[in-house]
Amino acid sequence: MNNRIVLERVSAGYGAVTVLHDVSLEVREGELVALLGMNGNGKSTLLNCILGFVRPTSGRILMEWGGRVTDLTAMRPHDIVNLGIGAVPEGRRLVPTLSVEDNLSLAGGVRRGRGSPAETLAFCYETFPILRERRRQAAGTLSGGQQQMLAIARALMTAPRFMVVDEPSVGLAPIVVDQVIDAVKQLQTARGMTILMAEQSFFQAVEVAARAYVLSHGRIIRTVEQGRELADGEEIRRTMMGMA
Ligand SMILES: Nc1ncnc2c1ncn2[C@@H]1O[C@H](COP(=O)(O)OP(=O)(O)OP(=O)(O)O)[C@@H](O)[C@H]1O
Ligand SMILES: [Mg+2]
Repeated sequence: MNNRIVLERVSAGYGAVTVLHDVSLEVREGELVALLGMNGNGKSTLLNCILGFVRPTSGRILMEWGGRVTDLTAMRPHDIVNLGIGAVPEGRRLVPTLSVEDNLSLAGGVRRGRGSPAETLAFCYETFPILRERRRQAAGTLSGGQQQMLAIARALMTAPRFMVVDEPSVGLAPIVVDQVIDAVKQLQTARGMTILMAEQSFFQAVEVAARAYVLSHGRIIRTVEQGRELADGEEIRRTMMGMA
């Protein structure tokens, strides 16, 4: 069996409002997969279903790993973290007055049994050396790009094998967008992480992703496989914006 996370016809919403309609997708071990869509099309809702914060009204979310199938659909968020699913939330949610290292240590309280907290911290600093340099600095005084790297590193503290990253480039200057997307890509290539990343920076995301799903009004309207030319980026942008 291939190791993967799979969504099977997931629908979900808030109260009487359905946001996601029959969404099916998969992320295989070692892949970086992008979830593209404009504001309000359901990206965070989908990621929050995987994380257990939003409960699907129908469909299933399965983790097939190491020959075992685990149904995440009705599981609680902390049990999902313990299975090795880490989250980089929308808007980063750092504690701005705490130091870089304290932000990381806080997250290290919830972790699976791999390695000591000190080893995991060292792993974060190896992945993002700038955070080691800035470790005594208050998180709120870092640049936007560095804050995003801290949010990503914080997710590493739970020793995940699969990471959900919600719009890491939002609010950043164009050159920093590239740096942050590259940092996510590096987690995949250098650290072997499996990643599902929501993004609106479609050109950058399509460039690094094995596959991109385009979400519009809560439905997957397009799946783009790797190796598509950049010219397709314009077409994807138009699809995302409902102009195609
Ligand atoms: N807690 C909530 N209660 C009610 N409606 C919500 C809630 N969270 C999101 N929604 C609605 O669900 C829809 C999808 O929102 P969602 O946050 O999933 O979109 P998104 O693609 O992540 O957007 P963005 O790019 O702005 O983050 C929107 O219409 C939004 O208003
Ligand atoms: Mg969102």
